[in-house]
Amino acid sequence: MIYTKILGTGSYFPEKILTNKDLEKMVDTTDEWITTRTGIKERRISIDEPTSVLGMKAAEKAIEMAQIDKNEISGIIVATFTPDTVMPSTACVIQNLLGIQNNSFAFDLAAACTGFIYALSVADSMIKSGLVDNILVIGAERISPNVDWTDRNTCVLFGDGAGAVVLGKSEEPGFRSFHIHADGSANRLLTLDVLGSNFMANRKNMNIEENLLKMKGNEVFKIAVRAMAEATAKAVESSGLKYEEVDFFIPHQANLRIIDAAAKRINLTYDKVIVTLDKFGNTSSATIPTALDIAVRDGRIKRGANIVSAAFGGGLTWGSMLFTF
Ligand code: ACO
Repeated sequence: MIYTKILGTGSYFPEKILTNKDLEKMVDTTDEWITTRTGIKERRISIDEPTSVLGMKAAEKAIEMAQIDKNEISGIIVATFTPDTVMPSTACVIQNLLGIQNNSFAFDLAAACTGFIYALSVADSMIKSGLVDNILVIGAERISPNVDWTDRNTCVLFGDGAGAVVLGKSEEPGFRSFHIHADGSANRLLTLDVLGSNFMANRKNMNIEENLLKMKGNEVFKIAVRAMAEATAKAVESSGLKYEEVDFFIPHQANLRIIDAAAKRINLTYDKVIVTLDKFGNTSSATIPTALDIAVRDGRIKRGANIVSAAFGGGLTWGSMLFTF
């Protein structure tokens, strides 16, 4: 039986830190409101590094840890809702930046904050079916240029960053369960309309500032709490493992209250939950791979650890997975 395993992890954040105190000077908000409502204290902002560069820097670290030649990578999938350009894909740009010259496939995948789990489920199927041997999966976002910095409802939430994993074949179990879902009927709850062809077709009458990232936070929150908790439980229950065999929970980092509800649903104590949103905010598709890489490199997550992950985002999309690292 062929399994897919994570051979290496990497993450990268831009240097500039934007704190809640900095935001107090920009919009009508307080450090206290942001901290108690979300758990976020600061986030990173890319001044001049595009999504592709953030992704490339995370990928270099993952390739180094995987100890494979970059030209052994048979494909690149980039989960992002903030690509450098609509065309070419950010995956193709990253292939070039990494200097991979083997004509490996490369494509972007759009599932907002659930993008990394969607991308891993696609890559896992490709490897298990025998189509290819190694795939580089990246979650990379430069969200800050797409944020309305006058809208306190959204601008306090997001940050820029990228995480990556190199996947390869294994005889030991790696990914044990995936669940991916969408509810398109709620697609207007979380939107980024600029540069889409609807926006471009009407661009003479359209205002960029009014079509930046928008979210009906409260409505999304209610759906997210339930969906994340249910998906997390489903990933464990269909993995063949028992609840007590789960070593870590790496949730999408949107809101600490959503994370707490999901962790409670599977009876996990807080020390087993990897939380990074205090330092990096919501980096969408990058939250799970960056949190994984941070916990691997600081020694918390070791080989053999059973990890459950869940995410929720625009679309609406949500999903979960359980894997043995
Ligand atoms: N500072 C101070 N007050 C604020 C701020 C702020 N930054 N933002 C909103 N408020 C105010 C609102 O205006 C409102 O005031 P009002 O009662 O006078 O109208 C009040 O605080 C409460 O607002 P709510 O939106 O009800 O606050 P809530 O507790 O729901 O928290 C939040 C908002 C943090 C956005 C939460 O709803 C949330 O986390 N939603 C889910 C986010 C999510 O999971 N998104 C999916 C992933 S993102 C992606 O896919 C790209």
